[in-house]
Amino acid sequence: MKISEAKIINLPKILDRRGNLSIIEEMKNIPFKIERTYWIYDVPGGETRGAHAYKENQEFIVALSGSFDVILDDGKEKKTFSLNRSYYGLYVPKGLWRQMNNFSTNALALILASTKYHANDYIRNYDEFLKIKS
Ligand code: TYD
Repeated sequence: MKISEAKIINLPKILDRRGNLSIIEEMKNIPFKIERTYWIYDVPGGETRGAHAYKENQEFIVALSGSFDVILDDGKEKKTFSLNRSYYGLYVPKGLWRQMNNFSTNALALILASTKYHANDYIRNYDEFLKIKS
């Protein structure tokens, strides 16, 4: 997969003076069925999460609160996406190296995943990733 297949997706936003509401429906707002949901929170300043790629898993990442950067890398090109609103997110296709950093205080990253957790779906070694991509 190439970086160009990753994209920011705007979510429906129901504005209301009582407070706003946004929605994610599988296969409608995001291009996969949701098999798993997890979230990352209480990240100490300066920490990096997720320096790895997945062979199969696709993800959709939303900053439900606060802000952070997602850096994607397809072995040729790198791109940084800054997430800081809960009404859009980043679609990450399989096969891209991704890391997350620059977490603000109280940042809450919601991640919707297309597969169950499989340790053997991870590529955690960057040199191995580059070898597979070449
Ligand atoms: P990992 O995906 O490596 O975190 P990150 O990429 O954000 O740094 O996961 C950290 C630990 O949590 C690792 O030991 C595996 C475990 N884990 C699960 O058991 N299930 C899951 O769905 C996820 C995402 C992680």
